[in-house]
Amino acid sequence: MHDPNSSKHFLIAQISDPHIKTNGRLSYRQVDTARALQRAIETLNTLTPSPELVLISGDLTDFGRPEEYAACKALLEKLHAPYYLIPGNHDDRAAMRDAFAQHDYLFQHPRFLQWVVEDHPVRLIGLDSSVPGLPHGELCAERLGWLDETLKKRPELPTLVMLHHHPFTSGITHMDRQPLREPTALAEVIARHPQVERVLCGHLHRAIQTRFAGTLAMSCPGVSHQVSLDLEPGGPSGFHLEPPGYLLHQWSFTHGLVTHQGFIGDYPGPFPFYDEHGLID
Ligand SMILES: [Fe+2]
Repeated sequence: MHDPNSSKHFLIAQISDPHIKTNGRLSYRQVDTARALQRAIETLNTLTPSPELVLISGDLTDFGRPEEYAACKALLEKLHAPYYLIPGNHDDRAAMRDAFAQHDYLFQHPRFLQWVVEDHPVRLIGLDSSVPGLPHGELCAERLGWLDETLKKRPELPTLVMLHHHPFTSGITHMDRQPLREPTALAEVIARHPQVERVLCGHLHRAIQTRFAGTLAMSCPGVSHQVSLDLEPGGPSGFHLEPPGYLLHQWSFTHGLVTHQGFIGDYPGPFPFYDEHGLID
């Protein structure tokens, strides 16, 4: 068990929205999502220090097909750290459970792929906001009741709550047509439990942060394509092939939870600020 007096860090990586296709097909005829996930895994595996676990916030596959899950799993098995999954709007609950049958936590709830993991210094809760066949998200009374009861059991533990859909208005019109619906119902539950350090989501395919229910809600970049940064009201749907990214949530008992955004791929550097004469001019 983690020593509460220790300043040791506990590092959690988050990636999102791999949208895996098969047979070399490109997502939206543009994106080699399998290669992108492979690069993300290579990046996470070479981080120093290494993340102790990886959260994946939904849209594992592009169309929820069994063969897409098989391809996705074959890639994810190369991660050095254990990983935890929730479904997104592009996923299929039954196919996802079939493919990841050894992930016991996916079977905690009889109907929904939502779960709690207690094995770490930070308590992890995954929610299933998916609605079969539709792009928006929902959390019914059953799912929210489960969340409330689960949070009530360990109020002393710092907790991350992860769901696929954003429970806030992003300002990107076409994504705000498919958010988590009725986010105030989720906010009422979260506000009752101040141990929630973050509400984490995917779906937006870019990093966005905002206050939410007394805590911080934030979305993870996509590991392949990024939703276009278009804050024009009524703007069209589209994506850019900007550098893909990930989040690193670093917990310590002395500093709390601090979140960083990193980029996938190789970039020039590191370069020194100083040489033997001091700050380099
Ligand atoms: Fe997505």
